[in-house]
Amino acid sequence: MDTVQIFDTTLRDGEQSPGFSMNREEKLRLAHQIEELGADIIEAGFPIASPGDLEATRAVAAEIKGCRVAALARAVQADVDAALKGLEPAAKPRLHLFLATSDLHLKYKLRATREEAFDRIVKMIRFGKAHCEEVEFSAEDASRTDIDFLCEVVLAAIEAGATIINLPDTVGYSTPAEYAEMFRAVRARVGHPEAVLSAHCHDDLGLAVANSLAAIEGGVRQIECTINGIGERAGNASLEELIVALHVRQNHYQVETHINLEKLYPASRLLSQITGIGVPPNKAVVGANAFAHEAGIHQDGILKNPLTYEIIVPEKVGVPARKLVLGKHSGRNAFRARLAELGYDTTDSELAECYRMAMAQADAEKEIRDRDLVDIILRVRRQSPAPAAAGSGTIAH
Ligand code: KIV
Ligand code: ZN
Repeated sequence: MDTVQIFDTTLRDGEQSPGFSMNREEKLRLAHQIEELGADIIEAGFPIASPGDLEATRAVAAEIKGCRVAALARAVQADVDAALKGLEPAAKPRLHLFLATSDLHLKYKLRATREEAFDRIVKMIRFGKAHCEEVEFSAEDASRTDIDFLCEVVLAAIEAGATIINLPDTVGYSTPAEYAEMFRAVRARVGHPEAVLSAHCHDDLGLAVANSLAAIEGGVRQIECTINGIGERAGNASLEELIVALHVRQNHYQVETHINLEKLYPASRLLSQITGIGVPPNKAVVGANAFAHEAGIHQDGILKNPLTYEIIVPEKVGVPARKLVLGKHSGRNAFRARLAELGYDTTDSELAECYRMAMAQADAEKEIRDRDLVDIILRVRRQSPAPAAAGSGTIAH
């Protein structure tokens, strides 16, 4: 089975989005967590951006030895010099060079012709390759670049020394089918099977993970993504969603990664803790509701066999335990199970009374917490004492 390399850009693309900037110590803490997670490459920063980012990149490069460490640079001498400086202490460095290739970016942003851009790319990759063992080239806005020009650039980039070719969907415009087709076309026309093709997707249309998965079907073997999907504007492809999709649907994608699934949730939590920004409760894999069930029919199914409503085992991705939320949609079985977990085995009549009282409360309070439930069962038992067999219950909540 082929392996897909995971390139984590939480510390670069993720960090450059509003509210997510991190200082050197914070980047280092997260870098260690990403190393434990099993990412193949950590993009530590964009050293030309600020002296602090250069410092942080150097610190990550000095401490992280389990993953390759990348630093970003435009195809501009000053950027490349800064990135190489940031990578100096790295055991396994990668210079990540980029330049926009779409006519839109060339005309309005770079004010350069295709020929000028082409020459800059080739020149800076040659220089980079002479100073760094591994060079990745990204054709920014690749998904909106004329395919003939894109293939010319990719061929020249490989011949100049780039061994990883990243073709980003920089503005999140592509559809999965189009994005996969772009990679197939580039591979068919450029050849060079030794060069690794890479995807980097933004989530402007909510398609970043879908596009990344499609890219794998199109032959890509490196995916650039971020923890919690943070990144410019609507963010990048979410690492945890991508990894779990590849795991759960391995029968379809037929690839593996080096990611340690149990570390997904801890990595997500650490990022939220460091930045102070949580994830939406309904976010796949790491959201608070990702394994929470309230509807009675679902709770009943889960209690009988979790596979009825769960395609991911929460513990497998490091989530402590599934949560059956007790509220007005819940059924009696869920109440009976939660009371038993709390140490109260109930008779049918106790359960019926508890359920009636809980439903009256749920209408007003949305959720019945464990301590509410304990109050209710104690009240029920005071009204009509239960036989000696029932548990006394202990509660830590
Ligand atoms: O979105 C993008 O195109 C990028 C490149 C610099 C890789 O972040
Ligand atoms: Zn990006």
